Amino acid sequence: MDFPVTSGVNGLERIVVNTRDAQGEVYLHGAHVTSWHPTGRKPVLWMSGQSFFDSAKPIRGGIPVCFPWFGPHPSDSQKPAHGTARIQKWIPVKSRWTAEGVAELLLESQLAPFDVQLHIRMGQALELRMNTRLAAQEKRAVHFEQALHTYFCVSDVRNIEIRGLENCQYIDKMLQARRCEPTRRPITFGQETDRVYFNTKDTVEIHDSGDGRQIVIEKSGSLSTVVWNPWIDKSRRMPDFGDSEWPQMVCVETANVADNRVLLAPGDVHEMTLRVTVKDH
Ligand code: BG6
Repeated sequence: MDFPVTSGVNGLERIVVNTRDAQGEVYLHGAHVTSWHPTGRKPVLWMSGQSFFDSAKPIRGGIPVCFPWFGPHPSDSQKPAHGTARIQKWIPVKSRWTAEGVAELLLESQLAPFDVQLHIRMGQALELRMNTRLAAQEKRAVHFEQALHTYFCVSDVRNIEIRGLENCQYIDKMLQARRCEPTRRPITFGQETDRVYFNTKDTVEIHDSGDGRQIVIEKSGSLSTVVWNPWIDKSRRMPDFGDSEWPQMVCVETANVADNRVLLAPGDVHEMTLRVTVKDH
């Protein structure tokens, strides 16, 4: 291992990456990327100052891995929201420098009946590849949902536009999960926003006029994109989210949820990737 596992907040184990091109940090709890800071730029991933760092709870910010369900469990309200992957300790299998000076990490988790691998590459781009395999001895195909629930730093959510989802249908969780037609306009924020865009493979861009930068989110193997900002009241209701933090973040989540959940046959592997880069305006 080129990058050692060290002790982070509250003794939770983490891997700290420091290369010429980027600094970053990954907690084994949830295989959770809590920071990615390309050299010479502002940090890209947002973390709440109120996050728990507790082996029984998810981390608030960075990139929670939601799996094998998204949101509440479909039939058992006692089960944790967004699945068990984000509250479980993952095993670090590999960490190395590539010839180009990029940090490459591999973490694995057994979430029966699935085996999941998360490959992380940190440099001037941040790349995640999530491979999900259904055990070969399973008798029949099994569904799962997944999301790389990425929290991005923004200057003020009221200053940004999200482009790339103008022509997609979506489920609006603020309107009792109503199915809505494409808006034909970039997304702007003036209230709590919680939407699942479906049947979309498209690249999404966060245009931030306050920061003078553009965050570009490319993906593959993903047909849903979730967009979320909790705004004022919901922030107050969340114990691990500061009351005044909501303007500084937006979630754009690379996902396969609801209609786009994945049906995997025994022994098959599904791959979903996310690539984040930053450009000046
Ligand atoms: C988003 C969901 O992905 O995650 C929201 O669409 C949810 O409905 C949010 O509130 C945060 O979820 P959690 O479980 O991390 O508080």
